[in-house]
Amino acid sequence: MRTSVAIIGAGPAGLVLSQLLARQGIDSVVLESRSRAHVEQRQRAGILEHGTAQLLRDSGAGHRMDQESLVHNGIELRFAGEGHRIDFAELTGRSVLVYAQTEVVRDLIELRLAAGGQLLFEAPATEITGIHSAEPAVRFRQDGAEHVLTADVVVAADGYHGIGRASIPADALRTWERDYPFAWLGVTAAVPPSTEELIYCHSPRGFALHSMRSLETSRLYLQVPPGADPSAWSDERIWHELDLRFAKSGWKLDSGPIVEQSVTPMRSFVAEPMRHGQLFLAGDAAHIVPPTGAKGLNLAVADVTVLADALSRWYTSGDTAGLDSYSATALRRVWRAQHFSYFMTTLLHVDPTADDYARRLQLAHLDYVASSHAAATSLAENYTGLPLAR
Ligand code: FAD
Ligand code: DHB
Repeated sequence: MRTSVAIIGAGPAGLVLSQLLARQGIDSVVLESRSRAHVEQRQRAGILEHGTAQLLRDSGAGHRMDQESLVHNGIELRFAGEGHRIDFAELTGRSVLVYAQTEVVRDLIELRLAAGGQLLFEAPATEITGIHSAEPAVRFRQDGAEHVLTADVVVAADGYHGIGRASIPADALRTWERDYPFAWLGVTAAVPPSTEELIYCHSPRGFALHSMRSLETSRLYLQVPPGADPSAWSDERIWHELDLRFAKSGWKLDSGPIVEQSVTPMRSFVAEPMRHGQLFLAGDAAHIVPPTGAKGLNLAVADVTVLADALSRWYTSGDTAGLDSYSATALRRVWRAQHFSYFMTTLLHVDPTADDYARRLQLAHLDYVASSHAAATSLAENYTGLPLAR
């Protein structure tokens, strides 16, 4: 089997890349280890930056998004029992969309398959060969048989645990990493959101986030200890804890049946460079941010936008400049998002190892962000997304 661009992973990075390439007349094959139903149902991100939404629209994948997403012009920062609005529209002229990753993935899969795109599900990639040759290849399994996909380039969009990054010799990569002393318990609840905009809440009991999936479905997150057992959290305990953390006079949290729950570790990670020979890394395969600030999916889309432009330039004119600068261009945005995600995470969570002085400083920092036009503008600019450098 042969294609131009072999893509490993049908998450947002792999799917957006195959869609952008198809628009440029460049063929690709996407190998995905899981089933279509699994990738379409995996609960994850919920917020699309202004530029991510525009990119999806421009690539022809924005039709349902524009009908069903919710436009959000701000968020609430809640701490010390009071709410403070960060008005994105006023501070930056931009907004974000609430549109779940599951929906983005569904839309892209439908679009690619309808156009005759090659997405192979339940087809795990097992090995990448010939990385330094003009004909790299990916070995994969499907229906109990071994296959080989040869290509001009291989893009590993296979997430943090994929084989792409692991195929690069350790001495050719530099990595940076931080683990946080907390995790998120995320729940989806069949109850209308108790708020019009997202609430990022700091309380002495820990961080809580009120998000949503639609006007009928709430999505909520609680800071919990790393490795917390989701089964130790009954519905009653979850709603009680959320009530305590979000407490604000005159405001009430509506509860309802919890339909899904899981625990996510919090990690920051970057691998540099994002290219080795003819193998390119994109999205979570190259970098992870803690989810506070909603950057992971948006960064994955930004990477492949840069990569699709570079590949298109190469295929149309033989010019390798875009491919040669891909890693440096993508990493500039990656590190900005690393800092913002770290900033939001440390601003809002309770660090069990912090001393009293650090905790008091944290409140002073929250107060500054909530009351300074300059600080709020910086938060709003990063949250809604900086322009894409190509
Ligand atoms: P993935 O989505 O991980 O896709 C990689 C794909 O590769 C997977 O489908 C996997 O099955 C496949 N794969 C792996 N190995 C192989 C193999 N060997 N062969 C074939 N296929 C393989 N981001 C935001 O922007 N906003 C948010 O609000 C947000 N909230 C989040 C909340 C939670 C609870 C979590 C967990 C994450 C959140 N994120 C958020 C992060 C976001 O979900 C990820 O950054 C995003 O999924 C990255 O996309 P990706 O395509 O790079 O990787
Ligand atoms: C969601 C997740 C986030 O990490 C975030 O910062 C905002 C919203 C969500 O899943 O809805």
